Amino acid sequence: MDFNFTEEQLMIQDVARRIAREKIAPSAESFDRSGEFPLENIRLLGENGLMGIEVPTEYGGAGMDPIAYVLAMVEIAAGDAAHSTIMSVNNSLFCNGILTHGTEEQKQTYVRAIAEGREIGAFALTEPQSGSDATAMRCRAVKQADGSYVIDGKKSWITSGPVAKYIVLFAMTDPEKGARGITAFIIDTDREGFHRGKTEPKLGIRASATCEIEFSGYVARAEDVLGAEGEGFKIAMSVLDAGRIGIASQAIGLARAAYEATLEYVKERKAFGQPIGAFQMTQAKIADMKCKLDASLLLTLRAAWTKGQGKKFSTEAAVAKLTASEAAMWITHQTVQIHAGMGYSKEMPVERYFRDAKITEIYEGTSEIQRLVIARGETGIR
Ligand code: CAA
Ligand code: FAD
Repeated sequence: MDFNFTEEQLMIQDVARRIAREKIAPSAESFDRSGEFPLENIRLLGENGLMGIEVPTEYGGAGMDPIAYVLAMVEIAAGDAAHSTIMSVNNSLFCNGILTHGTEEQKQTYVRAIAEGREIGAFALTEPQSGSDATAMRCRAVKQADGSYVIDGKKSWITSGPVAKYIVLFAMTDPEKGARGITAFIIDTDREGFHRGKTEPKLGIRASATCEIEFSGYVARAEDVLGAEGEGFKIAMSVLDAGRIGIASQAIGLARAAYEATLEYVKERKAFGQPIGAFQMTQAKIADMKCKLDASLLLTLRAAWTKGQGKKFSTEAAVAKLTASEAAMWITHQTVQIHAGMGYSKEMPVERYFRDAKITEIYEGTSEIQRLVIARGETGIR
């Protein structure tokens, strides 16, 4: 086992860390307050290869491996979680989905602009009545005699929905077949029949724009189908396996930022004549934070490594996401507690870390769904 990173991996980590410290962290508070989409910063990430880290260079990406992706995501999330949400959808849901399941023509047409950060991608699975139970979707794509499909229906909570140029959409083509009746499509949001709803006001990751989208008579051509008809659910699930590595990395980055703020504060802040870091109760919290952070990072690197080996990694990704997101929630909670009054104030980023952490336990499969995926994998019982 080799715990050293390659030169290439360290290089992208360094690029991401520099952008996070110089551009993202200083603007995070203002984007959180306004809820504005950080377009300029996203373009900068794209120019530096961070919007398509695993995308081969011939399609406009950085051509790196899943470990490089984890390292870069951690750094960007430590700067601001909302930026890392946008980055993660572009990388692991949009680009990865098309690279893994798309035709050569689809890769050429749709991946480059997103990997270079010139356009934004999105992934639309959830509907108002179906989140965890994704196969209960109602969005319909009805095949026409000429091989095209007419799409009608709604998708909700779509990250980057307000700004996306292209979307990987999942719709029911044969409701009687359940999961096997779902098909994936690549949507061009400039075409007729596509509508965006209002941007959702959210608890955290406020600069990551989220909205409902609606299709009314949208015509998808036969060449807009991603993979084969009826393969959509498997595509969604396998793409989400990779996505969960990204969200685990996000959780680690934002938890690390909270941890680093805590390490500084416990040395500065005094009570009863000593730094609060001298109290054993504070020390126990710091030790537990460190253990949870290290465990999360190692499990996430294991998932990324397994993916890089071309092996099945559903369980490893779910273990990483579950551990890292619950660690992030716990660590940011303790960070607020240790900062006490200042932890509750908007004058420090600590309260933002706490609000941002919660989403990692919800999207790309709730913690309950990660437990379900892990237990099914371990027992074989469905
Ligand atoms: N890879 C490939 N195929 C898979 C798979 C995987 N990881 N997991 C399941 N499948 C296949 C199964 O083998 C099965 O195939 P067959 O029909 O050939 O047997 C088919 O998919 C159906 O599987 P299940 O019976 O296990 O499906 P289910 O209805 O019980 O659901 C679930 C399983 C794990 C709960 C799934 O619905 C799930 O993950 N739900 C959570 C949804 C989710 O994560 N949404 C995220 C939306 S995107 C997002 O959130 C982005 C963002 O925030 C930024
Ligand atoms: P529900 O599925 O209604 O779950 C409600 C509760 O029941 C949860 O606690 C859940 O864990 C529990 N539960 C459900 N089923 C089970 C079970 N079998 N066993 C035990 N407990 C269970 N979706 C997209 O498609 N694309 C996106 O880009 C996207 N971005 C998002 C961004 C944000 C900010 C948010 C909040 C959501 C986003 N989502 C996106 C949707 C997200 O993936 C769903 O919210 C999530 O999968 C949960 O679905 P739900 O909210 O409908 O909850």
